[in-house]
Amino acid sequence: MRLHRKRNLLYVLCCFCLNLGVAIDTITSSQSIKDPGNIVSNGSVFKLGFFSPVNSTNRYIGIWYSNISVCTVVWVANRETPLNDSSGVLTISEGGNLVVLDGKKVILWSSNVTNSVANSSAQLLDSGNLVLQEKTTGTIIWESFQLPCNKVQLTSWQSPSDPSIGSFSFNIQPLNLPQAFIWKYGSPYWRSGPWNKRTFIGIPSEDYQFQDGFSLINDQEGTFSLSFTYVTDLFLHFALNTNGNIEQRFWDYEKEDWEVSLLSQTECDFYGKCGAFGSCDSQNTPICSCLQGFEPKNTKEWNRGNWTSGCVRRTQLQCERVKTGSEGSKMDGFLKLNMMKVPDFADWSRALEADCRQQCFDNCSCIAYAYYTGIGCMSWTGSLIDAQKFSSAGVDLYIRLADSDLVTKQDMKKIVTITVIIGTVLILICTYLLWRWIAKHKARKKKEKEILLLNRGEAHKTFPSDNLNQVKVQELPLFNFEKLASATNNFHLSNKLGQGGFGSVYKVMVALLKFYYQIL
Ligand SMILES: *[C@@H]1O[C@H](CO)[C@@H](O)[C@H](O)[C@H]1NC(C)=O
Ligand SMILES: *[C@@H]1O[C@H](CO)[C@@H](O)[C@H](O)[C@H]1NC(C)=O
Ligand SMILES: *[C@@H]1O[C@H](CO)[C@@H](O)[C@H](O)[C@H]1NC(C)=O
Ligand SMILES: *[C@@H]1O[C@H](CO)[C@@H](O)[C@H](O)[C@H]1NC(C)=O
Ligand SMILES: *[C@@H]1O[C@H](CO)[C@@H](O)[C@H](O)[C@H]1NC(C)=O
Ligand SMILES: *[C@@H]1O[C@H](CO)[C@@H](O)[C@H](O)[C@H]1NC(C)=O
Ligand SMILES: *[C@@H]1O[C@H](CO)[C@@H](O)[C@H](O)[C@H]1NC(C)=O
Ligand SMILES: *[C@@H]1O[C@H](CO)[C@@H](O)[C@H](O)[C@H]1NC(C)=O
Repeated sequence: MRLHRKRNLLYVLCCFCLNLGVAIDTITSSQSIKDPGNIVSNGSVFKLGFFSPVNSTNRYIGIWYSNISVCTVVWVANRETPLNDSSGVLTISEGGNLVVLDGKKVILWSSNVTNSVANSSAQLLDSGNLVLQEKTTGTIIWESFQLPCNKVQLTSWQSPSDPSIGSFSFNIQPLNLPQAFIWKYGSPYWRSGPWNKRTFIGIPSEDYQFQDGFSLINDQEGTFSLSFTYVTDLFLHFALNTNGNIEQRFWDYEKEDWEVSLLSQTECDFYGKCGAFGSCDSQNTPICSCLQGFEPKNTKEWNRGNWTSGCVRRTQLQCERVKTGSEGSKMDGFLKLNMMKVPDFADWSRALEADCRQQCFDNCSCIAYAYYTGIGCMSWTGSLIDAQKFSSAGVDLYIRLADSDLVTKQDMKKIVTITVIIGTVLILICTYLLWRWIAKHKARKKKEKEILLLNRGEAHKTFPSDNLNQVKVQELPLFNFEKLASATNNFHLSNKLGQGGFGSVYKVMVALLKFYYQIL
């Protein structure tokens, strides 16, 4: 019975879709949308029509999800030119452009394609894309997904009640190493790190649960587009919010609302937070520190928590010193920093993993390198900006340092600690040995006395003569030695203990030295 009802319902729904969907997912010159009308995509996924944002009476043309209760707008046409009444119309102009007109037939917004064709129509697809195409040939002349300008970018709303262009924008930098950026008034605000053909490696994996659905497509005309598809039945989308953060929104079918997670979550995600040659670690206080071998450019500022000036190199590189003619000492080396977000402005080369280091070493302008599967050999010149230390994943970054700067502070700490431990152990051993020696010495004296007494007794027995004292005195050294050497367990044992002790000390020392060298 229940099953039957469900089927009936489905049937009714489908009829509804078919009846309306086929006819009304398209706008033509004769079929326009008047406020408050809207059209629905064929599969009823999206709607296109007039809406007002929260706390606003302005009217906008937008696209939103049609199958959920929460109004979620994904695209707005007349962002900068809202209507202040309900006289608006969305239609196809005589020139074939998609236009928004007000009550006086003034064009408020236009798809603005110069080579538009007279016979065109606009269709709303189930993907959320609004496509303007020529009726007869089907040639696409405009689409809402890809505005016809050089740079495809998302821009944030001014506020939740004002869709006009806000402070933030998002795009993909089309270089050898494509990176995603959020910009604030034209300055970098957030950076994803390079694309490794699967994901952006500068986003900590624990914050980024669905790395694997993305694909970055290069259309070979300098335009990259990022898209995602999942095999699973997840219903989600990404949006750049008004605070310049990317929201990953999943539909929670039970709560019937979006569950939002933010892509950047820590202070360290602000681009260049710690300045040049600084490294940001959100687990530390303060979050900023200079990379090893570098010191604050302006210590006062730095200690006040203004890290913008960054850090400078402590010791000039040997390869630089050679250039300027001064005596070169030991060669420069590379220090490995693990679990890093790689700095910005990486150069990419075809070098294999084995050659990446050497290639960097051979060129004094190369100050760091990293090799990452899926990307290859990256190297840096000039400055290291926007580096971050992650608590998991990340990249092994190798920075070039003068030999004297290669020993890390941590190593210094370890060395000091170990020296103190070894010293303490040695002192303890010496004290112990001294104590043993004193104890032994006392014991020997005591034994000697006992033996003396014993000998006296024995002598008394063996030689019951009057020359007792004389015999005793003569025989004592020999007798004493024999007795002590073979019979007196106590003496022997202590000696052995002493040896054993030395053996242990020796072993401890070897172990400590091994440890010491391993650290170095
Ligand atoms: C609408 O979708 C159905 C199947 O989902 C398809 O058969 C039909 O051709 C579509 N109509 C249009 C106008 O695209
Ligand atoms: C809308 O206005 C109300 C009352 O002024 C306010 O409490 C609410 O936060 C506003 N909503 C948004 C999304 O701005
Ligand atoms: C609505 O906007 C028009 C211009 O588009 C303006 O002339 C008119 O005064 C506005 N009306 C109100 C009530 O703000
Ligand atoms: C259409 O494009 C031209 C030049 O590209 C520009 O000057 C004009 O402001 C645009 N019009 C609209 C309504 O966007
Ligand atoms: C537009 O298409 C209709 C048929 O769909 C046709 O009758 C008309 O001549 C076409 N107009 C132009 C200018 O091509
Ligand atoms: C809305 O439609 C999309 C696309 O078909 C689907 O993935 C999603 O589950 C639907 N949402 C709800 C709440 O049914
Ligand atoms: C931080 O230092 C920079 C450079 O000296 C300066 O321009 C900026 O105003 C300082 N910022 C703050 C918040 O003090
Ligand atoms: C060293 O690297 C810099 C920057 O990448 C480059 O301009 C220069 O030609 C390189 N020098 C040599 C000798 O390869």
